Amino acid sequence: MILVTGGTGLVGAHLLLDLMQSRSIASEKVRAIYRDSESIEKTKSLFGLYKKSDLFDDIEWVRADIVDIPSLEGAFQGIDLVYHSAALISFDPKEEDLVRKTNIEGTANIVNFCLDSDVKKLCYISSTAALGDLASHESIITEETEWNPEKPHSDYAISKYGAEMEIWRGQQEGLDVIIVNPGVIIGPGFPDQGSGQLFKKVANGLPFYTLGSTGFVAVTDVVRIAIELTRSEICNQRYTLIAQNIVYREILNTMADALKVKRPSTHLTPLLMEIGWRMDLILSSFFGRKRQLTKPMAKASYSTSIYSNEKIKTALKTDFLDIHQYIKEISSL
Ligand SMILES: NC(=O)c1ccc[n+]([C@@H]2O[C@H](COP(=O)([O-])OP(=O)(O)OC[C@H]3O[C@@H](n4cnc5c(N)ncnc54)[C@H](OP(=O)(O)O)[C@@H]3O)[C@@H](O)[C@H]2O)c1
Repeated sequence: MILVTGGTGLVGAHLLLDLMQSRSIASEKVRAIYRDSESIEKTKSLFGLYKKSDLFDDIEWVRADIVDIPSLEGAFQGIDLVYHSAALISFDPKEEDLVRKTNIEGTANIVNFCLDSDVKKLCYISSTAALGDLASHESIITEETEWNPEKPHSDYAISKYGAEMEIWRGQQEGLDVIIVNPGVIIGPGFPDQGSGQLFKKVANGLPFYTLGSTGFVAVTDVVRIAIELTRSEICNQRYTLIAQNIVYREILNTMADALKVKRPSTHLTPLLMEIGWRMDLILSSFFGRKRQLTKPMAKASYSTSIYSNEKIKTALKTDFLDIHQYIKEISSL
């Protein structure tokens, strides 16, 4: 039986959809954990969006929190394959402790349950944030690029890197593992989370763009590849999942065109972003509101990070969906 964590989020919900659609026999069971029943509705709506509502009812939902060990016991009964997608994605310094606890301690709990149960393989959804830092003679980040603890990293990046350390500990203790490291994941159905928020901002007339760049990937590619790797003989490897390295301005323009709204036209320079996160810090302390722009977010907006996807393309002889085309497709869903 398969267990999915994070099934009420963008990636986990798509994992559930793909797993339910690709079951070899209808009686093959898939279990997912949830924390509150309202979140399950988001997954149900996503199945509806793809016109697959009938498959949703076959998922077995168990209430569990990855940082609450007793709650995980029931979730692991009879499980032999685990997709661990649950995480807290936050760049708010106020949530530093919760990010580290959820992502590192939560992953350690998942690894320990896998080791104590008869789990055959654990697939962990990591991030390009957990990949290494380029040395001065390097220009492309690969799975082999070394993490440099002396370089500045966001709390989120540190937590994903720490979570990977827990996965490798599990591997050393005898568990078969797969790690995938997606870039920014584009997908439908979750407007208030991750890249969904970007779509929403563009739809509402976001006037600004920046000229940094990063790797982007379609959620359907992330889950297709995670499932293919988990079902294959391949284990104890990690793979960067990005379709293309794209400048933020281009992505925003594609979103604006797909949504038929005005393209962002004001360039926020690195200097303005540096001023911006400091202003945000002052205003949020003054008014007690959640941070909108943090130091790592500002830095990422003008950093140019180029990732290689050669390792996965060679391992699975696969390719990725074109991101610009994919944005057009999901905008009309
Ligand atoms: N989105 C991206 O662009 C991106 C890029 C690279 C890597 N990733 C990685 O991909 C994975 C999935 O991301 P996503 O975009 O699907 O995130 P998401 O939409 O924010 O969903 C996060 C999921 O984790 C669950 N979760 C959080 N804390 C939990 C806890 N303590 N116990 C149990 N479940 C918990 C959430 O459950 P609730 O509904 O109860 O909150 C939700 O199901 C994460 O590991 C993330 O780091 C994401």
